[in-house]
Amino acid sequence: MSLPTLRRSLARNRNFARCISSSSSSDPQHSKTTSFGFQTIPENAKESMVKSVFDSVASKYDLMNDAMSMGVHRLWKDQFVGDLKPGRRGPMKCIDVAGGTGDIALRILDFAREKYADRETSVEVVDINEQMLKEGYRRFKKTMYHNTPQISFHEANAQSLPKEKFRDNSYDLYTIAFGIRNVTSIPAVLDEAYRVLKPGATFACLEFNKVDHPLLGTLYDQYSFHIIPLLGTILTGDRASYQYLVESIRKFPAQPNFAQMIRDAGFVTGKDIDGGAWTNLWGGVACVHTGVKI
Ligand SMILES: C[S@@+](CC[C@H](N)C(=O)[O-])C[C@H]1O[C@@H](n2cnc3c(N)ncnc32)[C@H](O)[C@@H]1O
Repeated sequence: MSLPTLRRSLARNRNFARCISSSSSSDPQHSKTTSFGFQTIPENAKESMVKSVFDSVASKYDLMNDAMSMGVHRLWKDQFVGDLKPGRRGPMKCIDVAGGTGDIALRILDFAREKYADRETSVEVVDINEQMLKEGYRRFKKTMYHNTPQISFHEANAQSLPKEKFRDNSYDLYTIAFGIRNVTSIPAVLDEAYRVLKPGATFACLEFNKVDHPLLGTLYDQYSFHIIPLLGTILTGDRASYQYLVESIRKFPAQPNFAQMIRDAGFVTGKDIDGGAWTNLWGGVACVHTGVKI
């Protein structure tokens, strides 16, 4: 599908959502709502709207990530994976959910190999979006992991991973980076993460979060709401998708609230402080949350 077609599809979805949400109070079928950026939409519309966004950005996703973050997302991802030390205690079976183009998976495999000479750690990349997975597959074709049991790509919804494929108590590490804010039900994703992890295994989430410094917060707001949609327009011709990405960050629960959601799913976390249940990166612009399955 061409970009203009995708943009039209996104716009149609937005109009559709506006129509439905305005009638939601009188129609009990549509009474459950959720956020899509700053819009309130019916829950059952979010998945296709998010899909439209990532269909639209898939081919330029890696380029835009670098442009929007001025390359900083690479440092955050390096730290995220480096702190998890995949391979330190021997080969791990990992699942990277909302894994998109495979940025985290590649780092996990490289880290295990480079630090621990581990060529058995494996990552299953799971994403709801076929286009993002295709980009990831294409990218892994150029690596030594292509056609090995170390990497595989799966199209599935993080909220309901097919049980026959993603079995209970079967993974040593569950990662999700910049993905969980896009889902319709965060608790459903956390429940699934808990289900598929082995007892004692780690859930780790990298996500944009709440900035804890007023001046940094103001600068960050200016950058997010003015520069990022403009970059989206210039580099991909798609302002709407990048406006959504910025808005969705602001709707994501603050650090203590998300930590509580992780505990509600059954995980044990550290204390509700920076350096405990979560670690802020760049004052909370991004943040790593971890939990251990007991
Ligand atoms: C911002 S991208 C992050 C990709 C990658 N993890 C990274 O850090 O570069 C968010 C990804 O979440 C995926 N996603 C959104 N909702 C999902 C869901 N319900 N289940 C699985 N993946 C989902 C999107 O398709 C997209 O690839």
